[in-house]
Amino acid sequence: MKIYSLLLICILCLSACVSTPPITVESLHEVADFPVGTSVRMNEFKKDPLTRALQQYHFDSLTTGSDMKMHKVMPTENGYYWKVIDEAVAYTQKHEQRLFGHNLIWHSSTPSWVVKKARQNPQWLDGFMKEYIHTYVGRYKGVVDGWDVVNEGFATKGAGYRTDTIWYQTLGPEYIEKAFRYAHEADPDAILFYNDFNIERDLEKFNSMMVMVKDFQARGVPISGIGFQMHIRMDIPNEVIAHTLKQAAATGLQIHLSEVDIIFNTHDDSRGGGIENHRQLTEEMKLAQKKKYKELVQMYREIVPSEQQYGITFWSFTDRDTWIRRFFNMIDWPTIYDDDLKPKPALDGFLDGLRD
Ligand code: XIL
Repeated sequence: MKIYSLLLICILCLSACVSTPPITVESLHEVADFPVGTSVRMNEFKKDPLTRALQQYHFDSLTTGSDMKMHKVMPTENGYYWKVIDEAVAYTQKHEQRLFGHNLIWHSSTPSWVVKKARQNPQWLDGFMKEYIHTYVGRYKGVVDGWDVVNEGFATKGAGYRTDTIWYQTLGPEYIEKAFRYAHEADPDAILFYNDFNIERDLEKFNSMMVMVKDFQARGVPISGIGFQMHIRMDIPNEVIAHTLKQAAATGLQIHLSEVDIIFNTHDDSRGGGIENHRQLTEEMKLAQKKKYKELVQMYREIVPSEQQYGITFWSFTDRDTWIRRFFNMIDWPTIYDDDLKPKPALDGFLDGLRD
């Protein structure tokens, strides 16, 4: 184990105060031959030394959970808000991590003033999108490595675009390719992703996305990657995940598992829509989750050629911080660290998947 890993273990033990056993797990990013990342909520993260120490130990890539979304960057018409993003830039530069940009256009984070203005004057929206993307991507040119240019542009379930958004309703499906072109104009070297959920399991949704991706490639729309959010459940069959990963990798594009977590319970994909079948995490469940994490990493390594492995990013890496509990309003244990910031068997499973 490298000397700085040992030092880190001492720091962690000190910060966790005496009773914590030494952390003996290996660093994820040191074992991986691709970047391993996590999302963090900057305002909580910056006040939390233990989580920061763990983050620096395990990860070499960082995504902000919400701080880079449009409702945070431009909460009002009066201007851009860069402060928290600049803090994320400083943090990642200091700790030699990749900063990933999540996201440019997402129906769910479109500020209400944008919706209102576009309804009043539909002509305005394209120019606004262009200026927003040029300004934002231009400001972080060469600093933000890659972007989720459009997030969740396809319907929640089944085939077809997500149509109930101001972007689709005002600009038609072309808003997606426009966003990619604007981002590429602002930073020709940035890796540009289309990112979505359930594409690893909903084949109709996946196929709709693939039609768009292949059309973009055929027409030279500057897409460089596909982001699988990969918010999965214990019972999502590996065969289905392997099938979609294989098809996606066949495009030759970068493949990012961009928001990984693995839940036991279920939900209806809507805010507050959690369905609790499990209220306790048993030893048996922990071991099953360890196996699932291992298999997910193995599939990524086996199926995605190494030059297309943009990396694997967790959507928070502790059960304490997971968005699942807040968003779906249910208990669950989807990550690799528990509520007390102790490593779970899931972490060993992930490491096993990296090693085998
Ligand atoms: C989530 C954040 O984690 C939450 O804190 C916020 O309340 C809602 O958004 N797919 C995405 C992410 O692309 O941006 C979402 O993040 C989780 C689902």
